[in-house]
Amino acid sequence: MPQRYMLGSPKDFQEEVPQYCSTEGGDVLVFLTETGEWKVYDAACPHAGAMMGFGYCGKGHIITCPLHAWRFDLRTGDNLHPRLYGLTPRKFVLEEDVLYLVVEEEEGKI
Ligand code: FES
Repeated sequence: MPQRYMLGSPKDFQEEVPQYCSTEGGDVLVFLTETGEWKVYDAACPHAGAMMGFGYCGKGHIITCPLHAWRFDLRTGDNLHPRLYGLTPRKFVLEEDVLYLVVEEEEGKI
């Protein structure tokens, strides 16, 4: 059975400003696009695992990894370089005005 970990209320997040959230289910980046779409990504960079919570992002949808400067589009998770890995999307649900990270049982097994 999937586990849920509270990330916050939608009013806790600003449009186009990625927010790092640490939960027992994992560390994630939460991003609200300018068109009102929610995105949740694993906070570890897909290159070498740097914490994207320390990534640089002015107001906008591009975030730069603090370690080797890979750049990602937070609207899609895609790497700006077409041959490189993108951010890893995470499951989430918005229910009764609360955003939750959803972790399947098998994800938590070693
Ligand atoms: S760890 Fe992010 S670009 Fe290398």
